[in-house]
Amino acid sequence: MDCREFLLSRRSIRYFEDREVPLELVLEAIGIARYAPSAKNTQPWRTIIIRRRDLLNKLAKLHAGARPLERAPLAIVVLAVPGESPTSYLVDASLFAMYLWLALHCLGLGAVWVQALRNTGDIREILKIPDEYIPIGILAVGWPAEKPEAKPRRSIEEIVFLDEFGVGL
Ligand SMILES: Cc1cc2nc3c(=O)[nH]c(=O)nc-3n(C[C@H](O)[C@H](O)[C@H](O)COP(=O)(O)O)c2cc1C
Repeated sequence: MDCREFLLSRRSIRYFEDREVPLELVLEAIGIARYAPSAKNTQPWRTIIIRRRDLLNKLAKLHAGARPLERAPLAIVVLAVPGESPTSYLVDASLFAMYLWLALHCLGLGAVWVQALRNTGDIREILKIPDEYIPIGILAVGWPAEKPEAKPRRSIEEIVFLDEFGVGL
């Protein structure tokens, strides 16, 4: 696939086939995501792969947007490690999560990012995460069972200034 087509075809997938995802495939995606950039190459990220149905169901109840976790065969929680990159751990770990999402897409898997930043306490408790790690996002992962249309995007004119802020194209 042309790389433009690849990037433009990623979607948030919230419905999944009732079919297992091999752990090796998830590890392959994580292996690719390790090549995400990070400040000073600190790689301040960890992951938890969740396959236990009881845990997925608990996480699915965190908020309305977490419901895809109920339908997903697995999830990957991305943790940031502030101690390893004190200035930019949130950016670093988000870049890793985005790379991971793209790597999953590359392998034919679908995913949606489930918001984790409003419920970090609950997520910590459910998954026994120590205080030094921050769950920054949860990817619900599975074989896509839907093909959503692309969501509308802001125009280029709205998001691009030339040389100085406010100077339009
Ligand atoms: C930080 C972040 C948090 C998100 N949280 C949720 C969520 O909790 N539930 C959900 O269904 N989608 C969530 N999304 C997915 C967005 O709704 C989605 O990316 C956006 O609508 C654009 O659609 P697309 O991913 O198909 O291009 C989140 C995405 C990001 C980047």
